[in-house]
Amino acid sequence: MSPKLPIPRTIVGVTDEAKKAVVDVLESGRFIKGAQVEKLGEEFAKFCQAKHGVCASSGSTALFAALKIAGVGLGDEVVTVPNTFIATVNAIILAGGRPVFADVDARTFNMDPESLRSAISPKTKAIVPVHLYGLMAPMPEIMELAESKDLVVIEDACQAHGAEIEKKRAGSYADMAAFSFYPSKILNTTGDGGIIVTSNDDYAERLERFGNHGRKSQYEYSEFGFNFRLSEIQAAVVRQHLKRIDDEIGARRRTARTYDNALEEIAEIESPEEPKAYKHVYYLYTVLAEKRDLLLDFLKKKQIGASVEYPVVLHELDYVASLNPGLPPEGLPVSERCLRRICALPMFSSITEEQLDYVCEAIHTFYRESN
Ligand SMILES: Cc1ncc(COP(=O)(O)O)c(C=O)c1O
Repeated sequence: MSPKLPIPRTIVGVTDEAKKAVVDVLESGRFIKGAQVEKLGEEFAKFCQAKHGVCASSGSTALFAALKIAGVGLGDEVVTVPNTFIATVNAIILAGGRPVFADVDARTFNMDPESLRSAISPKTKAIVPVHLYGLMAPMPEIMELAESKDLVVIEDACQAHGAEIEKKRAGSYADMAAFSFYPSKILNTTGDGGIIVTSNDDYAERLERFGNHGRKSQYEYSEFGFNFRLSEIQAAVVRQHLKRIDDEIGARRRTARTYDNALEEIAEIESPEEPKAYKHVYYLYTVLAEKRDLLLDFLKKKQIGASVEYPVVLHELDYVASLNPGLPPEGLPVSERCLRRICALPMFSSITEEQLDYVCEAIHTFYRESN
């Protein structure tokens, strides 16, 4: 394999077992609401140390469904963070909620519990912490706060399959958690897909109906719903890939350690933090880099696809700003500062030693030559 890496993330290959599982579904003639979706729900919930898994058509629809089942409606405030993929905020807006932004911690890039505390108002209905880049938000602190105020918490775990705090996995802390199976994710399929995990029996039952037009039986509709079903083919692929998720995460963590060691002596680079008792699964390996934009240009010339995730803080987008989102009086200085220095280096499980050396050497050369 060439050491050059023009794209920062490669799609994890479809295994032979997954290909066979797809053929089996095709031959079964059962494409919607069959055994694959049902078993994936059970298996993924078990993986997350939760009771139920309700499949959905994407991570975005999983988030939306969770917000609606949590009771979010017109004008309800939902506290989240501004440095996330747009789907987090779009799901809140689609549910009728008013996004309210809390700032993040400067080293973990995740929700700062103190900022969350000041963002909560009598109109707050739910909190959506995001486990950014594969590191969980500080769930013990967030849950303690939410429980004291009787608020629903929905983990946006779309980037954090298998991440842990104190050996408790993403999906096991909050009332509900949404995951994505988009092709670049740690656990993925060959199209769109997602799941909501919960240990609440009532939520699980209502989520199941909500994603299937509120149906109790074929023509019996017990409440409003819509079609957010996952197809049997996508579920069959995810089930096969779930079997190798430990290897996937292990490879990512080894790659992260190689980066940590190789970049340690560069004063202009801050490697990502993995707080004690946390298990980072490195969906992305994201550093804070001085002269970030010059570094990106330099890496691009070497055909290394580093990227900025995410280049905008969402409260500044015109359509989000026009909805009058909640902001702290001091603004969101930490999120804004991170955005100017953040840089995601190539990260995927099949990255080779040679490729990693090539990337690290290029970063060393850049800072040697630019100082
Ligand atoms: C943090 C976050 N939230 C939500 C989503 C939405 O997931 P999907 O693309 O499956 O709709 C993603 C996926 O990219 C994500 O990274």
